[in-house]
Amino acid sequence: MSQYLNEKIKGIKPSGIRKFSEMASSVPGVISLGVGEPDFITPWHICEEAIYAIESGRTYYTPNLGLPELRKEICNYYQRRFGCNYDWKKQCLVTVGASEAIDICMRTLLNPGDEVILLSPCYVAYTPSVELADGVVKYVNLKEEEHFKLTPEALEEAITPKTKMLFLNFPSNPTGGIMTHDDYVKLIPIIKKHNLVVLSDEIYAELTYDGTFCSLASFEEIKDQVIILNGFSKAYAMTGWRLGYILAHPDIIQAMIKIHQYTIMCPSIISQYAGIEAAKNGDEDCKMHRESFLARRNFIVNNLNRIGLTCHMPQGAFYVFPSIEKTGLTSEEFCEKLLFEAKVAVVPGNAFGESGEGHVRISYAYSIDLIKEALSRIEKFLKQF
Ligand SMILES: Cc1ncc(COP(=O)(O)O)c(C=O)c1O
Repeated sequence: MSQYLNEKIKGIKPSGIRKFSEMASSVPGVISLGVGEPDFITPWHICEEAIYAIESGRTYYTPNLGLPELRKEICNYYQRRFGCNYDWKKQCLVTVGASEAIDICMRTLLNPGDEVILLSPCYVAYTPSVELADGVVKYVNLKEEEHFKLTPEALEEAITPKTKMLFLNFPSNPTGGIMTHDDYVKLIPIIKKHNLVVLSDEIYAELTYDGTFCSLASFEEIKDQVIILNGFSKAYAMTGWRLGYILAHPDIIQAMIKIHQYTIMCPSIISQYAGIEAAKNGDEDCKMHRESFLARRNFIVNNLNRIGLTCHMPQGAFYVFPSIEKTGLTSEEFCEKLLFEAKVAVVPGNAFGESGEGHVRISYAYSIDLIKEALSRIEKFLKQF
């Protein structure tokens, strides 16, 4: 049937995470530390608001931008937590997860041939979303010895006359790296000088462990150039509700609406009512989740280093990105062998870009007991090397 398919689609590779999860599901007794999803269930007070919306017959379409009350609460939240001001009437668009947000940003902003700087390794959806919008990806390879941060030198070097966009994601999936306020300060003159539009995927903002999270939107001098992507999936354990948002200049939001209104119309109203409660009264839930992930992070990093998989200390998100170079295997070979011999599923680093080679991504959004059992299997497995 390939004659019916769009040429661009034929060139898009399937996600390396999905490929490994599918392989893992065929192995009985496997422990999967592959998927980036909190193991908590959504806090009950948030669920109750959704149930109440159904009970009271609020089951219709909402405005394309999203429910006004939700947009107000999202803007209140960004102000309260990160000190960034946005006008809920003009600068906030509610999306179906950060995933829709990524897609419509690309389709709204890119012209064919525009270059987009991605930091490698990066979240698996970034490259295809650029390519589907006819953009050209330019990678900046982040280095473990620099704690997977973007340096001004590396950014400057990647910029060409065709560069339009810089796409950031801190805390990062898959490395757990963060950028502090001082790290960002060094990038601001470059972003200004080259007039870049910067997407900042801040979906792991609440899961920052060491230091405080700094939103790129807090830099007033580039705020018009910054587009914030965020969502409820990770911090509130709401992956299945499919709720995210974009904060940006009113002109950009107006342009994005043209795509969103025809393809999505609006996210589920039931999820939007849950989102109001999360944004308004969910700070304590985020804190509880953060503290729990922090304990798991410390446990897994200490133990991985002890058993010989050297691993930098991730400062955010819920992933560790240890080096497997000592084993002499590629990341795919390592993951396949680990899966079939030790029955533990993790994701090969090269699923996140070539510079992820030599590493694997392990999610610690699982119970300590499960992590303990997985680590003991990995320890036995490593004895052969
Ligand atoms: C960096 C990053 N951005 C976006 C997403 C997608 O999130 P959502 O569930 O809001 O679509 C993920 C999910 O894993 C992610 O890791």
